[in-house]
Amino acid sequence: MAKITVVGAGNVGATCANVLAYNKIADEVVMLDVKEGVSEGKAIDIMQTAQTLGFETRVTGVTNDYSKTAGSDVVIVTSGIPRKPGMTREELIGTNANIVKSVVGNCLKYSPEAVFIIISNPMDTMTYLALKATGLPKNRILGMGGTLDSSRFKYYLSQALNANSNQVEGIVIGGHGDTTMIPLKRLATYNGIPVSSLLDAASLDKVVADTMVGGATLTGLLGTSAWYAPGAAGAYVAQAIISDYKRVIPCCVYLEGEYGQKDICIGVPAVIGRRGVEKIVDFKLNDEEKALFEKSANAVRSTNNVLKEINAL
Ligand code: 2OP
Repeated sequence: MAKITVVGAGNVGATCANVLAYNKIADEVVMLDVKEGVSEGKAIDIMQTAQTLGFETRVTGVTNDYSKTAGSDVVIVTSGIPRKPGMTREELIGTNANIVKSVVGNCLKYSPEAVFIIISNPMDTMTYLALKATGLPKNRILGMGGTLDSSRFKYYLSQALNANSNQVEGIVIGGHGDTTMIPLKRLATYNGIPVSSLLDAASLDKVVADTMVGGATLTGLLGTSAWYAPGAAGAYVAQAIISDYKRVIPCCVYLEGEYGQKDICIGVPAVIGRRGVEKIVDFKLNDEEKALFEKSANAVRSTNNVLKEINAL
């Protein structure tokens, strides 16, 4: 009996719960929100698709009652405010840090064995905060940014190639920020064929640039942060944990020397299974990628430093 808690029943949280149910990833999904009625209402709405879509997952909603989340195998944290057009993810730190810290602490009381997936922004710093504030082993807290950024990278690659996006492979490492993410164009393929042999350098650079501001583009269009791809990315990571799939997923994990970095949570490929982060795939970057990764880590670290200034750590 797998149980997943989704904290925050806003657009991202509710989409995530919906994908978890529709894809039969867990037997039970509990959505928790601070706003009275919202998670309850969205849970009922999702349950009213069960017959049409044919799933057995039981989705419930609660207002602030953490006891209902007890015994969760996975907790997905989407709480906090989303960005508005023109804002960076990093600007959310003041509001979201204390929310994320208290949410993770409350969930842990009732689900001491859970693996935590952080979606709240600024995601790399929120993952670091959750890890440091709880003292949990590093395998049990990860952020989903790289999963989402890689799906955006594959989307833009498929558009440039005029191809089926399921035939495209590509990963994004580094921070989950407009200037910190690193779409690895060198390794992207179209069914095994390097995309660099199919697209000219300018087109490939445009794919990289579009990917990096992929979230901001949607925020500009929607007036708030995106939700379908972020919610689905959270569910995809949760599925790898619940089903012990050992998927290699670019996600935000704690580094202790891998990729030349220490004491930071940042995006790299990792094997995700029942224990959470089971292994970091530490592959060789070229000099250009190494320099970008170092720059990205420095930027994430300076956002992490704000946690002390605002007394969150
Ligand atoms: C995004 O990039 C919500 O951070 C998320 O859309």
